Amino acid sequence: MSTTTTAQVAAIADIWLENRRGGSTLGIAERRPRISWTTAAEVSIESLDLELLRGDGSVQRHTEAGAQSRLIAWPFPPLSSRESVILRVRPGGDSVPPDAEWSAPLQVEAGLLERSDWAVPFVAASVSEPQGTLRPGYLLRAEWDSTALGLEPGTVQRARIYSSAHGIYELELNGRPVSDDLLSPGWTSYSHRLRYQTYDVTEAVRSGRNAVGVWVADGWYRGRIGFEGGLWDVYGQDASVLVQLELTRSDGTVVLVPLTDAWRWSESPVTEAGLYEGESYDARLLPAGWSEVGFDATGWKTPTQLDLASFPAELEPPTGPAVRVTEVLPPVSVELVAGNRIRLDFGQNIAGKLRIRVAGPAGHVVTLHHAEVIEDGLLGVRPLRSAVSVDRYTLAGAGIEEWTPRFTLHGFRYAELENWPGGIETVDVEALVVHTDMERTGWFDSSHPGLNRLHENVVWSMRDNFVDLPTDCPQRDERLGWTGDIQVFAPTAVRLFGVHGTLSGWLRDVAYEQADQGHVPNFVPWIECGFPNHPTAAWGDAAVIVPWEMYRHDGDTRVLADQYASMRAWVDLVDNLTGNTGLWNTGFQLGDWLDPTAPPESPGDSRTDKYLVATAYHVRTARLLAETATILGKDADAAHYRTVAERATTAFQAEYIAPNGRVVSDTVTAIAVAIVFELFATEEQVARAGQRLLHLVAASDFHISTGFVGTPIICDALVRAGGLDAAYHLLLQDELPSWLYPVTMGATTIWERWDSMLPDGSVNPGDMTSFNHYALGAVADFMHRVVAGLDSAEPGFARLRIAPQPGGGLTHASASHLTPFGLASSRWRRDGGRFFLDVEVPPGTTATVVLPNEGGVHEVGAGAHSFTSGFRDPSDDPAKPPFSRW
Ligand code: BGC
Repeated sequence: MSTTTTAQVAAIADIWLENRRGGSTLGIAERRPRISWTTAAEVSIESLDLELLRGDGSVQRHTEAGAQSRLIAWPFPPLSSRESVILRVRPGGDSVPPDAEWSAPLQVEAGLLERSDWAVPFVAASVSEPQGTLRPGYLLRAEWDSTALGLEPGTVQRARIYSSAHGIYELELNGRPVSDDLLSPGWTSYSHRLRYQTYDVTEAVRSGRNAVGVWVADGWYRGRIGFEGGLWDVYGQDASVLVQLELTRSDGTVVLVPLTDAWRWSESPVTEAGLYEGESYDARLLPAGWSEVGFDATGWKTPTQLDLASFPAELEPPTGPAVRVTEVLPPVSVELVAGNRIRLDFGQNIAGKLRIRVAGPAGHVVTLHHAEVIEDGLLGVRPLRSAVSVDRYTLAGAGIEEWTPRFTLHGFRYAELENWPGGIETVDVEALVVHTDMERTGWFDSSHPGLNRLHENVVWSMRDNFVDLPTDCPQRDERLGWTGDIQVFAPTAVRLFGVHGTLSGWLRDVAYEQADQGHVPNFVPWIECGFPNHPTAAWGDAAVIVPWEMYRHDGDTRVLADQYASMRAWVDLVDNLTGNTGLWNTGFQLGDWLDPTAPPESPGDSRTDKYLVATAYHVRTARLLAETATILGKDADAAHYRTVAERATTAFQAEYIAPNGRVVSDTVTAIAVAIVFELFATEEQVARAGQRLLHLVAASDFHISTGFVGTPIICDALVRAGGLDAAYHLLLQDELPSWLYPVTMGATTIWERWDSMLPDGSVNPGDMTSFNHYALGAVADFMHRVVAGLDSAEPGFARLRIAPQPGGGLTHASASHLTPFGLASSRWRRDGGRFFLDVEVPPGTTATVVLPNEGGVHEVGAGAHSFTSGFRDPSDDPAKPPFSRW
């Protein structure tokens, strides 16, 4: 999104490529990456000077007219494979001194852009293993001599490893880890695309002899994944690595290090590895110095070479950040419990693993158990189903030994150490929080501690479930890219973290799997483990809604263009399923999944008619597609999808809306969907339906009565019905079922079910009970947008709308968001009858500020602004019941 006016800004504070602010610029896929910048201080910019130092030493310059700061088209000749360039920019134009300062340089390097750039095969430590039991991990190593390759000391200008694996892998060079990435190459639809990593190993490469080593084991490619017993070796049977090591001389010539025949493999200290099951590691088996020069590899075996041509999947650089340890948590309590186990409570439910420091005799085995909750005084492991989540460490007996597993991940707050040597006082264990290393972009705070904890829980559930791809849960035998979950959560996700890279990669898999299955499967990547493989409303609609929400956030139409075929295929399919009537009333549906009245064993049994939900979503995505087609200049398509949407709207009205505005499925979700998706024929109907909604919500005594579909929109529906007060009642309710009930139960993440834990502390008896699902946390978007009032007025935040709607007895609330233009915030407080609002509007943007009550509407430019007005909160009325126990 561009600003067409002259921006009031000066020094360039930051430059980045595509929508990947803060992201790596090493090994990128784009030949012509688009450039964005933000500024710090205030001065006007009439144009932008861009300077590129090319790989061949030449300098190219370009002046971009105007003050556009977002997604400037690459003005230089395209990058070639491996080309490394340095980009810097500065304000240009008459009012800027000719010696104006350049921005800090941004080093950019293209990855291997052509398949033909790959010159090595996969090398396999194992080409197949029996299924049904866990397999070991493997070590592979190779040595080379730089001098023998004609590279004299000081002549290696740069060294790069381009690498990937079938399985999960980690690299070492001359005895040291090459990066802190975890679980690489992550999970993609491997039959279509496999990501490779690019590592800068210039500092690690020595003159003379060098050694490279790889740990590889089962993961998503090979091993067991999925529920109902899961599937083995979904993508292939080999555990292999692809490692292309290139050294560049100072004259720019590239030397491919001939590792292929030098590789040898051995079994590793990892005796068993499973993403769900855990890892067993015998430290006695670690061959000392195995990834260093001079190691005696006698007995190591020659790996099988697997020609790259036999794996047609595209090799691509990651579009998003890697998975890493993002935080280390010490235990908040350590206690001895039954069975002579030591229980650790980390005070926070996480996706991660333990790091232990332990001393004891060689051969002593410590067992590490993980669980999200305690039930009846024991670790509550039943909800994990077949994800046993147990790690085992066998000591080498060499003083203090430090260990953390490499090839597994657990969802847990509690851990128990079994057979810990040396007693409780010697426990030295931390929890490592592991997830995609996304940039935090959204914050919320208020005077309500429960609401703040709810928000914190949403943030944690998002962190814990963005483990390379957006998943449902991090703990049980699932951890799948459920489409419905991210569909409802997308507006919140784009607020809280920089997710563009992660989601744009995942959407490519959506398109691939959609092409394979003939519809958008219920989770992506799709694996056939018994779940109904049918088009499903609210789940398949992710193909349209996720790109749309990304576009709304970033203001970048490219995601729409890239996903257009997928978006269209979904809407066309549903249109066909309705027999071109617009009424989707047949086939499998998940409906308002996890409506609180659905029985534990039947979570899809919601009160709301499933087909009402299906047709409503059909209207919504057909409309969004029509809008998308308009944005992309596809006018004929736009007209067609408008017709599809209108037909579906008419069908919805005929089937589900009585002339007086009554919605036939008389539930909170049904009415909320009809209001928020704008499905009524007349304003009178909306008003009548709104009254009915207010009645139903009050009749439920402001307890939640919605599932996945209704929950993200119920507060908005109430506000549109004139029930801001009711929305606050619902939001701040803390009795079961409600958003705050889990908070009263000590939850530190968002639960899958409203009652994942029952009031007596027992775990919901359903077979599907997670304590870490982000879907029902989608209300955080409402907290930012309505409670704190920070919203965008157009895609990409070039114009903001700041319109806090205080209530619920809150005395202050604030939200801030790192928009593509910089930090925006809205911070209000009230004091007696006065209302105070402080806003921050990023450079290059403007804001419409709407004060509550009769405070008026104000148009403001970039900078900090303060407003005051009179205010009365209806909930202050002593005749009204209190909102909650807080
Ligand atoms: C997942 C959900 C998902 C649902 C749909 C569950 O097992 O955890 O979050 O959307 O199935 O059936």
